[in-house]
Amino acid sequence: MSETPQKRLYIKTYGCQMNVYDSERMTDVLRPLGYGVVDDPEGADLVVLNTCHIREKATEKVYSELGQIKLMKDRKAQAGGKMTIAVAGCVAQAEGQEIMTRQRAVDLVVGPQAYHQLPELIARAHRASGERLAADFAADEKFDALPAERKVDGVTAFLTVQEGCDKFCTFCVVPYTRGGEWSRPPEAIEDEARRLADQGVREVTLLGQNVNAYDGGGLTLAKLVRRLAKITGLDRIRYTTSHPRDMGEDLIEAHGELPQLMPYLHLPVQAGSDKILKAMNRDHTAESYVKLIERIRTARPDIAMSGDFIVGFPGERDGDFEKTLDLVREVGFASAFSFKYSRRPGTPASAMPGQVDEAVKSERLDRLNQLLDEQQRAFNASQVGKTLPVLFEKAGRHPGQIVGRSPYLQAVHASGGEHLIGTIVPVRIESAAKMSLAGVLANEPVLETA
Ligand code: SAH
Ligand code: SF4
Ligand code: F3S
Repeated sequence: MSETPQKRLYIKTYGCQMNVYDSERMTDVLRPLGYGVVDDPEGADLVVLNTCHIREKATEKVYSELGQIKLMKDRKAQAGGKMTIAVAGCVAQAEGQEIMTRQRAVDLVVGPQAYHQLPELIARAHRASGERLAADFAADEKFDALPAERKVDGVTAFLTVQEGCDKFCTFCVVPYTRGGEWSRPPEAIEDEARRLADQGVREVTLLGQNVNAYDGGGLTLAKLVRRLAKITGLDRIRYTTSHPRDMGEDLIEAHGELPQLMPYLHLPVQAGSDKILKAMNRDHTAESYVKLIERIRTARPDIAMSGDFIVGFPGERDGDFEKTLDLVREVGFASAFSFKYSRRPGTPASAMPGQVDEAVKSERLDRLNQLLDEQQRAFNASQVGKTLPVLFEKAGRHPGQIVGRSPYLQAVHASGGEHLIGTIVPVRIESAAKMSLAGVLANEPVLETA
């Protein structure tokens, strides 16, 4: 029996969940060409770095990684082989041709809306002729041209429903790297969700840079979620990332009504000072954010709130920062992501006066993180003694252990057989740490621990 020799594809993903989704889709585009995924770049035929431009550090990481990959490409060439290096994602979109100038080992550059052109770009790179840069903004073409078939091997999956951003927060590169807001038609999303459910996916996370701005020809995100909730097998639906401005009443209502919609909401607020929020062009105040959370909690009292924060935005004084801490205390977050402001070339904030000292940023970040950590621990600790439905996703690190997620997105460890993977099982929570919970299966005899 002869097997078709597989070409080795190494793909590394940086940045947000949308890049994770895009990397999967690139793999789908390349599979028919004979590429199979490997987990080591050494000796690979094709290396794809799916990059992130959001903060300076994220971008710099890509260039240092490229330096390493170049050495591997040289080694492969010495052994008579060929490695093709592709840079995809938001750095590709933002820097384009410059990447090939800065690192000459790069063969092609492909922006987030042009992944369907990968096979053609690779062919051109092999011929070493013609355009090897694709960076247009036609999101509809991308989704139309990607193969309908997705190969997933887990019980949870991401599903992009919306891409791009029109908000132009003054610190952010996303509107420039992902283009304007664009929503996929509901039929295409339903079709993809159904295919996922057929492959055993029990939970989908709908993705968009501004997912709650979803507009499928008049159909809101809430209505889309209601349609997806009817698909047999899809027991859990999540969505991310939302903007406070687009949190519609019907979406809030859906949280109170739809059991499939998980009680966890990532709703970045960025800062607690109205002066800073205005300079960020966020289009909401601290008070309107707090009021919004109150409405959401009226609909779904147990909802776990998550957010993003930036410290050290230009012009942020101690008093402004204290207002961020006040807002965190008032809302109470179950989890959060916080960042030092990073100056991004071309964004309005990078040219604003009052840039904050790095040392001050670090000090503020430490204080904010300390408060957010306390809240996260307290939220996790509040689950101890409760019985939560857990969707088990994979085997744990220890033999006989399985790991899943609570409705609130907490990792939950329990002793149990791998046959439980893909099922939702009640688990009595016995202990809590910062990042996870541990418990026992409520329906099974309690196992003795060693
Ligand atoms: N579309 C989402 C996510 C944007 S990027 C949203 O609107 O929330 C994710 C997070 O990165 C942002 O919420 C913000 O907190 C952070 N971020 C974006 N640009 C940044 C910058 N220049 N410096 C530091 N953090 C930044
Ligand atoms: Fe960036 Fe603001 Fe758009 Fe989010 S809403 S992607 S932070 S510009
Ligand atoms: Fe990064 Fe682009 Fe996502 S800049 S955060 S990969 S949209």
